[in-house]
Formats: sequence, structure tokens, C-alpha cells
Amino acid sequence: MRHLLYFLAVAVPVSLQAASLSGEHLAYTVGCINCHHQTDKHIINAPPLVVVKTYSLSEFRTLMKTGITKAGRDMASQGSVMGFVAKEQFSHLTDAEVSALYRFFTKEWTAERGVEEEKKIPIYFKQSQDEAKH
Ligand code: HEC
Repeated sequence: MRHLLYFLAVAVPVSLQAASLSGEHLAYTVGCINCHHQTDKHIINAPPLVVVKTYSLSEFRTLMKTGITKAGRDMASQGSVMGFVAKEQFSHLTDAEVSALYRFFTKEWTAERGVEEEKKIPIYFKQSQDEAKH
């Protein structure tokens, strides 16, 4: 009985917490997908998110918490929006949330998925293409 209580008190909340931490959910709600794939490149020139696959988890953690890339570039000091959102927004993510995001981008995200996201807002692309023609 004591073991059962221990299981209920410790193991169940931990597993529920892990299950509710979806990297996909975070990626869409904190705006990674929006800036990187749903916004015209003339407005925000962010690289495809497959770039995360070139990061190690600790490099990715540094990027999220400080805005410093794996090459050591301090994006905030360069005036880059990615540096600002990392320092002012993603630095609030817990380590578990950063890991969940990393898992999602390295294991589930694909270049094709990025292209699919970009197709969702044809009206924005159409507007910018029309403007470019004038
Ligand atoms: C407000 C828009 C915005 C949001 C939100 C955003 N990014 Fe970015 N991101 C950018 C831009 C713009 C760049 C290119 C910046 C540069 O090269 O200076 C970039 C660059 C990057 C890079 C490449 C860094 C390198 O090595 O050059 C990675 C990786 C990245 N973002 C991951 C993410 C992840 C993961 C999220 C969500 C947690 C996210 N970004 C959310 C705009 C954004």
C-alpha cells in the first residue's frame, strides 16, 4: 500500500507533466513556426527551422536562453529579432520545455513541413509578390 501511495504521489504527476509537454505545441504557441515559416521573408528573414538539427541540445539551450548561436554570434547585440525573443521571451522557458522543443525540431520537424506551413498563407505571399511586380 505504501508503495502504491508513493507511485501515485510521485510517478503519476511526473508522467502527466512529461506527457503534457509537447514540443510541437510550444513551437506553434511561442512563435517559432510563425516567424520562421508563416511570415514573408521580406518582413522577417528567418532561416528554415531544419537548422535546429545542426544544433546539439546544449547549443540549442544557449540559443534559447541568450540568443547566442552555436557559432558564437550574439544576435541581440546585432539588433536581430531572434536575439530579442530569445533573451526576453525564450529565456523564461524551463529546461524541460527547451528539451521538448529540441526533440520536436530534431525528431519530428522536416523541411517539407516548413514548406507546407509557407503554403498556408498564400494571400500574404500573393500580396508581396504583387508589390514586387510594381
Ligand atoms: C520574432 C520572430 C522569431 C521567432 C518568434 C523565432 N525566431 Fe528564430 N530566428 C528569427 C530570425 C529573424 C532569425 C535570423 C537571425 C539572424 O541570423 O540574425 C532566426 C534565427 C534562428 C536560428 C538560427 C541561428 C543561427 O545559427 O544562425 C535558429 C536555430 C532559430 N532561429 C530557432 C528558433 C526557435 C527554435 C524558435 C522558437 C522557440 C524561434 N527561432 C523563434 C526570428 C524568430
